[in-house]
Amino acid sequence: MRKKILAMLKRNEDIFISGEKISYELGISRSAVWKHINILREEGYEIESMPKNGYKLLSCPDILTLEEIKEYLTTDFIGRKVYYLDTLTSTNMKAKEMAFNEEEGTIIIAEEQTKGKGRLGRNWVSPKGKGIWMSIILKPEMAPSEVAKLTLIGAAAVNKGLEEIGIGSCIKWPNDILIQDKKVCGILTEMSCELNMINYVIMGIGINVNLDSEDFNRKLIDKATSLKIITGSKIDRKRLTAKILNHFEDLYIPFKERGDISKTIHISRENSILIGREIRIIREDTEYIGQALDIDDEGQLIVKYKDGKVEEVFSGEVSIRGLKGYI
Ligand code: BTN
Repeated sequence: MRKKILAMLKRNEDIFISGEKISYELGISRSAVWKHINILREEGYEIESMPKNGYKLLSCPDILTLEEIKEYLTTDFIGRKVYYLDTLTSTNMKAKEMAFNEEEGTIIIAEEQTKGKGRLGRNWVSPKGKGIWMSIILKPEMAPSEVAKLTLIGAAAVNKGLEEIGIGSCIKWPNDILIQDKKVCGILTEMSCELNMINYVIMGIGINVNLDSEDFNRKLIDKATSLKIITGSKIDRKRLTAKILNHFEDLYIPFKERGDISKTIHISRENSILIGREIRIIREDTEYIGQALDIDDEGQLIVKYKDGKVEEVFSGEVSIRGLKGYI
């Protein structure tokens, strides 16, 4: 019911709508309307009320509920169902618990993660209200070996979403987004599969949006940054969330339906921070130095080693570090 009242207020933004009208249209008493209005206020909606005129929506809070992101959302199924929580251990963990019973495209978003997970068992700093901490549940019918390509789709979608709000970024193949050589976004893709069949994939996306320098610990400050630190102003998280989901669906559908990943590869190449640079490739415990030549049509990184040997590197198996500056 509260969602319906909010939708009515949003439809009539800038004008008053009477309590009587809301109560008539929704078939509830005026005191029920008043109660819901108060709960919306507690959630952060600024609603003016005037005895004769009714209610007017003045402003909406900076929260990532479906009600708040949907005005920018153009997707069919990605992000059309949102579980929004104030606090969670990790959206990936929650998504894994829920995945079997949820439809593809459902997302879990939390304002804060108390045990945000990064790759390689690292933790992911996720302070309240300052980032986009979300996981998308996917159920593609394809071989488990294809899943590494989904991470490239996630990274390309973030890159394009940022571009749409006027922020240029680089992709550090396969799953980080960097600006000015520092990390602003990481992607953690996890899956449950049988021998030849995927049960579900969880694509966890963490974006440092409005974090301040104090939010990063000493170890991170040289390697990570936020969009707010880079641009000097607070970024609209709702708009960015929706834009990323829009791009994600655009890139995901051709891949899921026809195995077509060409657009994603194009974006990965165009915005790659690695191509043309010297990199360190860490495989298990051994480090190799080489030059990143290209990303091939299958999304593999082509590397030329010092001895002249050229190899395709598959994203799941290595960790990449830059030699100069970029992480
Ligand atoms: C990395 O670069 O190490 C990956 C970071 C992934 C962080 C996101 S935040 C949302 C989702 N939930 C998690 O616990 N992790 C991912």
